[in-house]
Amino acid sequence: MVDFTLTDEQKNLRELAHDFAAREIRPVAWELDRDGGWPQAIIDKAHEVGLMNTHLPEEYGGPGLNYLDGCIIEEELSWGCSGVQTSLGANGLAAAPVMLGGSEEVKREFGEELVAEPKLASFCLTEPDAGSDVSGMRTRAVRSAGGDTYVLNGSKCFITNGSYADFFVVYAKTDPEAGHRGISAFLVRKDDTVIVDKKEDKMGQRASNTATITFNDTEVDARYLLGEENKGFKLAMMVLDRTRPGVAAMATGIARAAFEFATEYSKERVQFGVPIAMHQAIQFMIADMATKVHLSRLATWNSAVLLDQGRRNTLESSHAKRFAADSAMEVATDAVQVYGGYGFIKDYPVEKLMRDAKIMQLYEGTSQIQRLVIARETLLPRRIEEPAAATA
Ligand code: CAA
Repeated sequence: MVDFTLTDEQKNLRELAHDFAAREIRPVAWELDRDGGWPQAIIDKAHEVGLMNTHLPEEYGGPGLNYLDGCIIEEELSWGCSGVQTSLGANGLAAAPVMLGGSEEVKREFGEELVAEPKLASFCLTEPDAGSDVSGMRTRAVRSAGGDTYVLNGSKCFITNGSYADFFVVYAKTDPEAGHRGISAFLVRKDDTVIVDKKEDKMGQRASNTATITFNDTEVDARYLLGEENKGFKLAMMVLDRTRPGVAAMATGIARAAFEFATEYSKERVQFGVPIAMHQAIQFMIADMATKVHLSRLATWNSAVLLDQGRRNTLESSHAKRFAADSAMEVATDAVQVYGGYGFIKDYPVEKLMRDAKIMQLYEGTSQIQRLVIARETLLPRRIEEPAAATA
């Protein structure tokens, strides 16, 4: 049966997340955007009420929520401010490879620390010359002669929460001649050899921290290798399959916020003697926005439910991420249009949403990369083998 009726628990989660977004995030969202502020107080409160690390399994100290639950929360928090939600949610991206590829001991150690305190973890994949082309990375990990440690050298850029993270999941070349088959993933703790080089000054999502991180002869115990050596590329792809639904949920949250602002404004703003909502030109824009929000949510939930059923969702995850991200950009742009000249002015809420929406088409795989995945899955369906050590 196809049924997206939420359970009472899911409705309660949605209410909890919505109230949190309305009380704690919305009132400071535009100020954080203006100042590029860091939402530490919100992170502390979200951690306290259980709105962070939601996917950590119960055996490692977490609440063990499923992917659909996560998407419900992510849409609400992103409705409050997607920059703040990026800060709150980045632990999920870093935790996924640990939970997929870490040993029992490492999963417990990592999970329990994240749950005990509002610590942050960053996912370090992208490099200045390796964005969409993951296998072009240059960061190196060299195994010591004794085999019990690796030494990491290299720089990662656009790292969410990089300036504040205690942990980093780092992808590095362990066999530089082997292309995507020579990449491994490591859980790295912050120490003096991990240098935060640069905090980016961004167009949108200005409440999230984005930094360049350099690993300078960083020594990592071999037990922090995630999954098998040289299988890190597949691990990264499996992680992105699992996290792109959450990004799609965030895009849906931005689109919904923009749609709601535009709808309310269209009922108040009078031109030609009537509220502009009475003009068909505006009604059609509102209708298109409503459809895009609705379909973004359906695609998002579909991609999450497949994961909850233990099924591979590569295609659906890219459908959801691509459609919701592009829709968020379109809906936010149309919201500015509904506001007219006022939409272009910072005293009004929608120009922030238009700037915030742009990153949804860029991070966790651009909209073009999602199309590439969709085209490959459609034209050349192939059975992707997931490494045995890394089952969901
Ligand atoms: N699951 C498991 N394995 C997969 C897979 C998947 N979804 N997709 C591909 N693979 C496997 C393939 O089967 C293949 O296996 P073999 O070695 O056995 O042949 C291998 O991985 C290589 O696959 P491709 O040939 O498809 O690899 P490619 O080099 O052409 O790259 C890509 C594919 C889709 C373009 C990929 O590189 C990609 O997703 N790029 C975008 C990267 C990205 O999303 N970066 C975001 C960074 S994180 C971020 O933004 C976070 C933030 O801070 C918010």
